[in-house]
Order: sequence, then structure tokens, then C-alpha cells
Amino acid sequence: MCGIVGYTGFQNATEILMSGLKKLEYRGYDSAGIALLTDNINTIKSQGRVENLKNILDKKQNNDSKIGIAHTRWATHGNPSDYNSHPHSSHDCKICLVHNGIVENYLDLKNKELSDLSEDCIKSQTDTEILVHLIRKFYDVNREISEESFLDSIIMSLNKVKGSYALAIICDDFKDKIFVARKDNPLVIGSGNKENFLASDSTAILNYTREIYFLEENKIAIISPNEINTYDFNKKNVNKKIFHIDWNIEDVDKTGYDSFMLKEIFEQPKVIDNFLNINLNSDFLKNIGLEKKYLKKINHIYIIGCGTAYHAGLMILNLFRNIEGLSASCEFASEFRYENPVIDKNKLVIIISQSGETADSLAALRLAKKSKAKVLAVVNSVGSSISREADYVIYTNAGPEIAVASTKAFTAQVLALYVLYLNIKKILAKENDGKCKEFELIEKDLKNLSRNIRSALKQNNKIKKVAKKYSNSKNMFYIGRNLDYIIALEGSLKLKEIAYLFSQAYAAGELKHGPIALIDENILTIGIVTQDKIRGKTLSNLKECKARNGIIFLIIPEKFLDDEILEMADDIILIKDMHEILLPILANVVLQLFAYHVANILERDIDKPKNLAKSVTVE
Ligand code: F6R
Repeated sequence: MCGIVGYTGFQNATEILMSGLKKLEYRGYDSAGIALLTDNINTIKSQGRVENLKNILDKKQNNDSKIGIAHTRWATHGNPSDYNSHPHSSHDCKICLVHNGIVENYLDLKNKELSDLSEDCIKSQTDTEILVHLIRKFYDVNREISEESFLDSIIMSLNKVKGSYALAIICDDFKDKIFVARKDNPLVIGSGNKENFLASDSTAILNYTREIYFLEENKIAIISPNEINTYDFNKKNVNKKIFHIDWNIEDVDKTGYDSFMLKEIFEQPKVIDNFLNINLNSDFLKNIGLEKKYLKKINHIYIIGCGTAYHAGLMILNLFRNIEGLSASCEFASEFRYENPVIDKNKLVIIISQSGETADSLAALRLAKKSKAKVLAVVNSVGSSISREADYVIYTNAGPEIAVASTKAFTAQVLALYVLYLNIKKILAKENDGKCKEFELIEKDLKNLSRNIRSALKQNNKIKKVAKKYSNSKNMFYIGRNLDYIIALEGSLKLKEIAYLFSQAYAAGELKHGPIALIDENILTIGIVTQDKIRGKTLSNLKECKARNGIIFLIIPEKFLDDEILEMADDIILIKDMHEILLPILANVVLQLFAYHVANILERDIDKPKNLAKSVTVE
């Protein structure tokens, strides 16, 4: 949440910072601001989107500063306003900073450390502004104009902070340097030729460099055009490992689509092929580093994630429970810590996260490691905190997901978890001298998955028509059983977050225990029916809705279509027939498009839904 970007080098900083901010807008878009350093620091901020800031900058005289920092905000402390926007400056504008995170004890710091500062020096209601005054105060106390003294002032300040931060700081005593620090919030440094970059996320700077260094926890760096020096809080030099990021530039552009979300929905066949090309081989477990000896010792698997990633986890839960001698549970990362989980070295903890930076998921990971369990991360963002702190990593390789609503990442997560499950099942079956029939069956059909998703995508116009018909619905139910229920949860989440329509996902069999009282001619029920063994039961539940004049929109595989269904459903979208555990993925693609079109018809800002941010780095 909140995006920060910085540049020091030989090019026009404004252009690079604005291009970075645009790419980081998914992290927050309540306000934006930029600080440029020439002789002095010049700060420009604006409430609202990055576009507003750009309009202001366009009217100003060209500033050819070669160094600057910038910020796009997702408000935590203080409403979205010009004053509360970052960057924040010291009273004399000597020091200026941008911050992603929360200073939890800012009132305490204000009262105890800054009581001498006159009230009118503090311009905003933010926690961040306290930090810049604190650094300024210690820089005065240190009384020496040197890089070391400034670094000391930063360290002295941060030692007093409770909370989390990714910070970029400039000071007019150091004309080409940016000081950065991180704790519990992501910060990447991009290495260039006579120029260096920083950002909350590598997508912001991929246009300029692919050589990325992920600043470690509790570390500080001083970035100048020719150098990146990193330190711990005792000012001891620390080594850095540079990652090469090979995502395509087109991946971070809309390439003709109306929105990133639509583009990412349509990218799913490619994402699947890509994942299977890399991972559908006999070395899968070896490549991750998971050894048979270790796998045999595990007695429980915890599957953990938030939002859509949690739904991906639910998809694999019952499959893991199928493995003899193994139990499994799927938990919200935000709840895990408070459930007194039994964690020890015989438990495997799987953390699922697109961004690899979600604060709740990261906290669950750290708890698991502290309790001696091994952690396997299923992550999309290469080099992210979760991927670095986990013992084993499966990269979903879906490419950057920019839209706030997660689509292709979910599909890739489910696929990765299925491939993991199959490999574990196979290895344990071999151990018992058996063949894994299930593996062979599913593996064969996995190869048809991208083709069948393409067929679902081809129905885009038909799905759009259905969306048009129901975009005025005030309330909807999504129902299904078993895996279909999970897709109901995911479909309903998508609709809420981008269309702002209320919908509720229900396990189909639960409808009659209460919610059916709500069904009448105004209520749309979306039925997801892909699982053969429970199809009759879910269809009966839908018929119960129909009998109460409810409206029915059904998603089913071609093989289920019959006269009875045709008579019952007001609208039907058919998906291709394939192995049962893959069918829900196809149904989900239909629901992604449905949510997209409803939101589009209602003229919502699809890539940047209100109140949301892509990467939730606060608990
Ligand atoms: C929903 C959505 C969120 C994320 C959740 C976890 O469309 O995007 O629910 O799935 O915030 O994010 P990651 O996967 O980055 O940990």
C-alpha cells in the first residue's frame, strides 16, 4: 500500500518518477507527490490520481532535476488531501521523505521527541511527517554536515520508531544521494549505468533496468548515480544479491486492452502454458528442493493466504486430505496467528501470495518459521519478501499482475498447487510400489487446459450480454458445492471489489437453512455446477430458487446440458468438458469476465477500485 519511487542519475528525474508512479498507482491512488532536488528541494503534491499531479507538473516550468523521490498514497493516517500527501518536508525544507508503512507510535514521538517544535511546523495529520521532523532534529544535534552524520540521524530516528516502513529520503546537503531504509515493507533498488533507481516494486522501474536488488529487512542504503551502499543499523556494510528480472515490457502495459484486468484475464492461456512448460517434469520437487525423506515426515499441511490467494488454497485442501497419513487445513493469514495453531517441524506451511509482500501472510510465515516448521511459498513476484524468507519456493510465473483484482495469478496459483499435489501423491505412491493413476489422468488433461480456457474466453460477448442483463441487480447469490463453492466465493469477491455490488457466496446446500427466505423475482442466483458427484444436489437447490421465482444463471460443462436444465436456467454459459478438478478453473474464467463486464457497464474504475490497493502491506 502506497507506492514510492526514486531516481538519481543523468536523466530528467521528473519523467522517470512520473512513469514509475503511473506503474505504482495500483498500490494506492488517494493522492500523489514528487520532490525534486536541485539547489533546493522543490515539492509538488496533489490530491487524487497521479494524472492530477501530472497536470500540475505540465503547467510548471520545466524542472531538469536529475534526482528526486515520489509517492502515490493509500491513506492510513489523515484523509486524502494535499497536506497529507507525501513527500513530507522538514520545517526548513532541507530534508524531504516519502514513506510506505505505518509509524504506530507517531503521537508518542510527537509528544516526547518533538515537543519543542511549534505546532505550525507540523502541517499534516500523518504519521509520516513526524519522521522527517525527527530526522531533522537529530541532524541538528549531530551538528556535522556529512553523509555519516545524516545516516546517524536516520538510524537514531528509526531506532525510535514502532511500526513499518519503506522510506526514501533526500537532503539538500547531498545533491546526488537518496537514503533508503526498510522494515516490513518492500523496497527494491534498480541498478543502472551511471544512474540508479528505487521503488516499492520492480514493475515501476523495469523500463529502465532489469538488474534489481531487493533491500533486506532492517537495512539502509545510500544510493548515488554510481554507487549503492547497503548497511545494517550498526552501519556495517552488507552484501547485496542482484536479481535479473526478465518480465517483458508489454507485460506492464495494457497493449490495447481497456484495462489491465481484461488483459490479464485474456493472458491466462499463456500463463498456463508457461507454467506447465517450466514445471511439468519429473524434476519438479527436486527443483524446489523438497526431498522425499522430508515429505514422508510431514503429518499436517497448513495452507495460508489472503483473499483470492486464500481461495486458491481452498482449492487444494481436500486433495491434500486425500493423501494417506496427512491432514490439512486452510487458514486466513490474518487469523492464523490467533488460532493457537500447533506448529512444529513435522508441519509444512504453504503460503500463497501473488505479491509476496502481504503483511498478514508474511507474519504467518514468520510465525511458522519461528516454530520450526518449513515454509513453502507459492509466489508470483520474484525476489519478494515471502519468496526470500521461505524455505522452498514455487514461482507461478504469471508475469506482473497490475489490476487490483487478481485473475491470472489465481489460475496460476491453483495450477501450481495441483502440480505440487500430484507430484507429492506420485512420490508417495511410488514409495508403495504403485502407479499414480490420478497423476496420469490429470497430467493428460492439464495439457488441454489453456485450449479450454481459450474457448471460455471466446464466449466473451455472450457473457457481456448476460452481464448487461443483470448489472442492475442489487443482490446476488453465487452458489456451488465442494470445489464449485470455492469458485462461488472467488466469483463473488471479484464482483464486490470491482463492481461494488453486494453478492454472497453460499454452499448450495446451506441456502435452505436460511438465505432462501430472500429469494424472489429480483434475486439472481449464479449456480456453478461442474462436479459430477454433487451435480444433482446443486441443481435441486437451484430448482428450489426457481420455484420461488428466483432468476438463475448457470455455468456448467457441456456434458451436463439437458432439457431440464434448459427449462430451469434463465441464462447458461457452457464450458468445455475436462477432468473434474480442472473444470472449476474454466468456470472461474467465466465469472471473471462476468464481474468485469458488470463493472464496466456500471462505469467503475476497474483497475483501481475504490478503497483497495493491490499489495496489502499493513495488517
Ligand atoms: C482479490 C485480491 C486480493 C488478494 C489478497 C492477497 O482480487 O486481489 O484479495 O488476493 O490481497 O494478495 P497477495 O496474493 O498479493 O498476497
